[in-house]
Amino acid sequence: MTTSRPSGRQFPADFLWGSATAAYQIEGAATEGGRGPSIWDTFSAVPGAVLNGDSGAVAADHYHRVPEDVALMQALGLQAYRLSVAWPRVQPDGQGEWNAEGLAFYTDLVDRLIAAGIKPVVTLYHWDLPQPLEDQGGWANRETAYRFADYARKLAEVLGDKVTVWTTLNEPWCSAYLGYASGVHAPGRTEPAASLAAVHHLNLAHGLAARAIREVLGDAAQISITLNLHVTRAASDAPEDVAAKRQIDVVANEVFLQPLLEGHYPAEVRAQTAAVSDWSFVQDGDLEIIRQPIDLLGVNYYSTGRVQRLHGEPVVGDGSPGVDGHKSSVVSPWVGCDDVEWLPQPGPHTAMGWNIEPQGLADLLVEMHERYPGLPLAVTENGAAFADEVSADGRVHDLPRVEYLHDHIDAVGAAMDAGADVRGYFVWSLMDNFEWAYGYDRRFGVVRVDYDTLERTPKDSALWYRDLVRTRTIAP
Ligand code: NOJ
Repeated sequence: MTTSRPSGRQFPADFLWGSATAAYQIEGAATEGGRGPSIWDTFSAVPGAVLNGDSGAVAADHYHRVPEDVALMQALGLQAYRLSVAWPRVQPDGQGEWNAEGLAFYTDLVDRLIAAGIKPVVTLYHWDLPQPLEDQGGWANRETAYRFADYARKLAEVLGDKVTVWTTLNEPWCSAYLGYASGVHAPGRTEPAASLAAVHHLNLAHGLAARAIREVLGDAAQISITLNLHVTRAASDAPEDVAAKRQIDVVANEVFLQPLLEGHYPAEVRAQTAAVSDWSFVQDGDLEIIRQPIDLLGVNYYSTGRVQRLHGEPVVGDGSPGVDGHKSSVVSPWVGCDDVEWLPQPGPHTAMGWNIEPQGLADLLVEMHERYPGLPLAVTENGAAFADEVSADGRVHDLPRVEYLHDHIDAVGAAMDAGADVRGYFVWSLMDNFEWAYGYDRRFGVVRVDYDTLERTPKDSALWYRDLVRTRTIAP
């Protein structure tokens, strides 16, 4: 399969084109409107945790600019907007009292989207856990999963007549391993055993939340989860390199896919992680809860990785280029993979140092289609950070981003030609925002945010995307 065709490619009329953001990355207003602190407020305040000491305190100030931002989306012709709800804005302690002002903020946002003809796609958890829940153990504590289900139920009650597509979790891989193993994300813990407990409790949280939403909304709700499935290639056909790749697949992909969609954990995972955990956190009945039918699998894709069997001493802190949200020279998030070595990927690379490989997206979508026939897919994030410059004409001529988007959207089309049932594509991100441990230093937006004036300027990529949405046709 190739990812470029001479004649251009037209997408189906019902294919949904959107953009994505996340609450902590754009909202700001961290202490306004009754919002409680999240783990990212706490983590950002730790010296050295986030580049340049940045935090989401102001971010893109979206909290105060909803009308302007919805108008911007409308001007770009977006059909859908993937937003996340900040749990600490609607329930400051993560349990107990609801914050009416926070709920009203999301009700207003969703109403404005609908009035503008933009379909809201709501993610319930994009990493901003209420700090009081972390103080009780966070995702390493089973109780957090039950609190999450209460929160999901409340949101379904409040927004259920307006929102049909619900995403429980965004990239639980990052929450579990970057948050609790390598510690490069909030809450910044470096406890491999806790990271595996977090994996399970996130899976459980998904299942409990999916059940709660369906109890409120019945089949009117479409339930999804978004995973950052890792596309990793073995450096050679040698059995030890193929086995090394499998180890990565097990802890990165299979620990989510198999319980969610097949009702069991991968057979190898307990042996592979035996030095770290006995998995006693899995209780009778959990796997039935986790395996709820889902209506859509969200796939976030940026890059690929390459591994081989490590010969010699284990390397702690080896960063793998192409692995989402993960800095090098820190403790590894790869629990149970100490004998696996990451290799540098050939370029080109984005400003994150991630290699650009559209074929990886096509391969991933086709693989999911073949593995789970009949399961609708959506690309819930795809995009790139580049060192944008504002030209003398005041515009941002971000040709590398246009090329990145072009080639990846073409790859989505190629996967659809090969049979994958892909329902939509959401560019990451609508606007420049707080890129987690990289703060404001990396820009993923198709719209530029001037962090001094908070002014928004559509980059050339936004205008290109607008034309694509209008014509549904990608030029060769
Ligand atoms: C995935 C995450 O969901 C998002 O929050 C992040 O900004 C992008 N990847 C880019 O790293």
